[in-house]
Amino acid sequence: MDNFCITDDQKIFFDDQGYLLFEDVISNEEIILLKKKLNNTYDKLKINNKNIYSGELGVNEKLILNLHNKDKSFIKLLTNETILPMIEYGIQKGSYKNKEKYIVSQFTGRDPNVNVPEQQLHVDSRFPGAPFPLSIIALWMLDDFNKNTGATRLVPGSHLFPEYPKDGHKYKEEIQINAKAGSVLIYNAGLWHGGGKKLKDLSRWGIIITYSRWFLKQAFDMTKNTSDEIYQTLTEKEKELFGFSSVPPHDENVRAKTIISPENLPKSLK
Ligand SMILES: [Fe+2]
Repeated sequence: MDNFCITDDQKIFFDDQGYLLFEDVISNEEIILLKKKLNNTYDKLKINNKNIYSGELGVNEKLILNLHNKDKSFIKLLTNETILPMIEYGIQKGSYKNKEKYIVSQFTGRDPNVNVPEQQLHVDSRFPGAPFPLSIIALWMLDDFNKNTGATRLVPGSHLFPEYPKDGHKYKEEIQINAKAGSVLIYNAGLWHGGGKKLKDLSRWGIIITYSRWFLKQAFDMTKNTSDEIYQTLTEKEKELFGFSSVPPHDENVRAKTIISPENLPKSLK
């Protein structure tokens, strides 16, 4: 994809500040539909007593992992034409000819509980101060994000700091991103950030998509947790994003390279 949709000013802002906000990316009708699907999915998982939230973080909240195998309609967000050029600009920067492949490493829906303390500032990249983004997060806001709903806090420019934020420290440079439903916050995974405390018991659904360089591990193996039925509906680009073109071969008898070309993508998973 050519970067025809983003301006030099947007690139400079993202490079310097580590984030960028896009407003009015989707319509009200789309927002309502996506929220309905998230709530239905959550209710279904709850009824079936599926482990929707492992509790590893000790907090019960609405969390739906691997959205692509819950409802097919979420998948189109991955290649949204407003967002993807910016993702592509950042995630390919510094790769060979700025053209290397990238994948989706996490695809999650989340609505935090009221009054849960704000998150510790952290980096998602597990590597602070990298010269180029290792991963970029697209946070789709399906409700208004503000002080009452626990909007994301971040420290602008902190993606360039070669260190982790101090535990429990309040940085005076921290800001909270207030934005209307339908906005998308893009941020470098090396940026210091954390969820805010939700002060009122209001819906605050967000869809979190993490895009990563192709050689990083996915949070879940989408090449294994995608059904053949869904696989058959995917475009080449979506298959690439799911990681199907960068599965390491079992050994050298299979092939000698990790990356495969689109024509070598599996026709079926069966
Ligand atoms: Fe995070």
